[in-house]
Amino acid sequence: MDPQVKKTVLRKLPHGVYIIGVAHNGHTNAFTGTWLTQVSFTPPLVALGVRKDSGSFQMIQDAGVFTVNLLDKTQKPIAEHFVKPAGADHDKLAGIRTRPGSTGAPVLEDALGYFECRVREIANAQGDHAVVIGEVVDAGLHRDGPALTLMDTGWHYGG
Ligand SMILES: Cc1cc2nc3c(=O)[nH]c(=O)nc-3n(C[C@H](O)[C@H](O)[C@H](O)COP(=O)(O)O)c2cc1C
Repeated sequence: MDPQVKKTVLRKLPHGVYIIGVAHNGHTNAFTGTWLTQVSFTPPLVALGVRKDSGSFQMIQDAGVFTVNLLDKTQKPIAEHFVKPAGADHDKLAGIRTRPGSTGAPVLEDALGYFECRVREIANAQGDHAVVIGEVVDAGLHRDGPALTLMDTGWHYGG
């Protein structure tokens, strides 16, 4: 396999850009994620790729819930903000309008819409990201309009 071709082809996969919200033991966090797809109608399941070395992965494992917040075409700066890792001295959600969803994970009030998931399975034997399978248990639409995609941002995550 030519690694450059592999990278080029994988980077052509279309992706959305989402803010994934997590909460555990009174702590909340969120990160920018793009490796997400629906994988079942009944029950409604999504699969999300999550970096195993991120703080958010630990919280998803511990709490078993997460939110997926969709952004509109003007909200690339929000995605940019949530790319940074959370640190002891860096609360990414400070100054961001959120409310706890029905699962307890944070919903971004300024997002286009969101859905909430309960973790049903985690496949993490292989690779640097785990595949988290979540059942969609709640959803809300704040306003209508097209969602931000990875192509809109000009960024890459993949290859
Ligand atoms: C364009 C883009 C897409 C990303 N997609 C994902 C993703 O799908 N899954 C993931 O775990 N991290 C993804 N990341 C990386 C996380 O946003 C990053 O590791 C973040 O710091 C994790 O936050 P945390 O350390 O507060 O948990 C992406 C980063 C960028 C720039």
